[in-house]
Amino acid sequence: MHKLKVLIPRDKIARKVVDLAKQIERDYRGKNLLIVGALKGSFVFMSDLVRAMNIPVEIDFVRVSSYGSCKKSAGKISLILELSSTVRGRDVIIAEDIVDSGCTLSFLLDYIKRRRPASLKVCALFDKPSRRVVDVPLDYVGFTIPDAFVVGYGLDFDEKYRHLPDLCVLEE
Ligand code: IMP
Ligand code: MG
Repeated sequence: MHKLKVLIPRDKIARKVVDLAKQIERDYRGKNLLIVGALKGSFVFMSDLVRAMNIPVEIDFVRVSSYGSCKKSAGKISLILELSSTVRGRDVIIAEDIVDSGCTLSFLLDYIKRRRPASLKVCALFDKPSRRVVDVPLDYVGFTIPDAFVVGYGLDFDEKYRHLPDLCVLEE
C-alpha cells in the first residue's frame, strides 16, 4: 500500500489556478484563444482553468503516450489522440499538468508549431525543473515542486489517484 502525504492542498491549488486564469485573460483579451490539454493528466487543471477565465476560449485535447526514457530530440513519444481543431492562425496555449523531463512538452510544441499557430505558449501547473532533460519554455507556471512523485489533481500512479483533490506525494 502507498502512503499519501499532502504536498499542496486543494485551496492553494484553487487560488493558483484562478491566478493563472487571470494572467491568461489579461494577455489574451481580444485574441483567438485555443487551449490544448494533454490527456489524461491535465483534465482537472483544464476544467478549473477555463472556468476561471472570463474571455472567449476554445478547448481541445491531445493524448500522448511515452515509452521508456527520453533522450534529447529522440523521445519515444507518439500521439494517440490528435487535435480536432484548426490551429493555423490561432493563439494557442498548451496546458500541461506537470513538466518533468520536458520530453512530452517538447514533442507537443513541435507538433503544434508545424500547424502554424499565430502564437504558442505553455501553461504548466506543476514544474519539476530538477528532472529536466530537454529545455522547454514555460510561459505560465503554477508551482515549482521538488523531485518527488506526485499524484492527485489529475495526476496518476498506474491510473490511480487522479481523483484526489490535493496534490500528494506518493510514499512507499
Ligand atoms: P515529461 O515528458 O517527463 O515532462 O513528463 C510529463 C508527463 O509525465 C506528465 O504529463 C505526467 O503524465 C507524467 N509525470 C511526470 N511526473 C509525474 C509525477 O510526479 N506524477 C505523475 N505523473 C507524472
Ligand atoms: Mg501519466
